[in-house]
Amino acid sequence: MQTWGYSDSAPGPLIRARAGDVLRVEVTNGLDTETSVHWHGVALRVDMDGVPGLTQQPIAAGGRHTYEFTVPDPGTYFYHPHSGVQLDRALYGVLVVDDPHEPGRYDQEWVLVLDDWVDGTGRTPNQVLASLQSMGGHGDMAGMDHGSMGGMHGMSMGGMATMTSPLLGGAGDVTYLHYLINGRTPQAPLTLTGRPRQRVRIRLVNAAADTTFRVALGGHRLTVTHTDGFPVTPTTGDALVLGMGERADVTVELGDGVFPLVAVAEGKTGQALTLVRTGAGGVPDAAVRPGELDRRVLLTGGLKATDDVTLDRRKPDRIHRLVLGGSMMPYRWTINGSTYDKLEPLLVGQGERVRLEFVNETTMFHPMHVHGHTFAVSGNGTRNDTLIVVPKQTVSVEFDANNPGQWMTHCHNIYHAESGMMANLAYWA
Ligand code: C2O
Ligand code: CU
Repeated sequence: MQTWGYSDSAPGPLIRARAGDVLRVEVTNGLDTETSVHWHGVALRVDMDGVPGLTQQPIAAGGRHTYEFTVPDPGTYFYHPHSGVQLDRALYGVLVVDDPHEPGRYDQEWVLVLDDWVDGTGRTPNQVLASLQSMGGHGDMAGMDHGSMGGMHGMSMGGMATMTSPLLGGAGDVTYLHYLINGRTPQAPLTLTGRPRQRVRIRLVNAAADTTFRVALGGHRLTVTHTDGFPVTPTTGDALVLGMGERADVTVELGDGVFPLVAVAEGKTGQALTLVRTGAGGVPDAAVRPGELDRRVLLTGGLKATDDVTLDRRKPDRIHRLVLGGSMMPYRWTINGSTYDKLEPLLVGQGERVRLEFVNETTMFHPMHVHGHTFAVSGNGTRNDTLIVVPKQTVSVEFDANNPGQWMTHCHNIYHAESGMMANLAYWA
């Protein structure tokens, strides 16, 4: 199997910096097509944001590009291309920004990247997009064994896959054969080791293109401490739901034995697996389903920001309503009725408190992402840069316009984004 990656590995190299550092990354494009690197979640200077056609020229095949920027806020971030549907390759890596003031009360840290992987199964992400756009339909057969498609994936009369989840509604458009944690399938999982009673900080990143994951560690509870890099009042549950583009830091206290860390493709068939070994015990089956998955399930948007990262109360100076629309046939996804090519920029003013209201009028969930800013979700004020909006739901988020530039605001389902569900949020100093 073949894929594309950064520095011959999937995930790519872990990049680590301290808040306030200047990071310089030199990219050499060894692909036979142009690319770009976006630093997802980082409030960086806009000319380093990595959006070709908006903030930079694409990096040509064989070309080079240097990114250099200050990383202002601690947290778990990741990098990926912002060129077409390249995100559905194994082109991703994690950027950890350490907080020089954080005590770090844990014995170990694990960084785990979740992915739905179609590339290398015989179909490329470009072919998947083309087939969605030509079939116009729920249920692209990407990388799927057509012979077994009958009962397995719940095909309806019209030949459309019904991938739905009670949590998300329509859960995705693409059927994947493989779900990965740190580049490994459940048949060849990574084994993480530790000692009983150690405290481990797990940094989870969902780098998938079309899949939300529900994550649990058999025999353990998870305490969420950060969402998209920013601290929340620690909240304990049994499982955590993470949309595409979202990150969460959780802590666990390790038990004694061998445990499955499972990331189920929410509303789909399949899962990713990693093993945690602290003692003796048999190896769980690749299809193991820990009971924790169906106990107390946490969503990141419902947690509570800690006081130090809570936005002060202020009346919004500017409100933009973003109605999310779309259809499977034709395969077209919109904001306020328009695809990106026809949508006027969303203008805001420097210094304003901005409120975005996401109104989901479709039957699918959309993980909405804003570049260059970390917003506060209305209600508990959770700080996020990517937030799941479920069907028929309206959620408001607020941020202060203090980082002028042209900032993509889009669905992090890469097939939706490429089929129109993007906007440009713009302001000048
Ligand atoms: Cu991961 Cu435009 O973003
Ligand atoms: Cu979407």
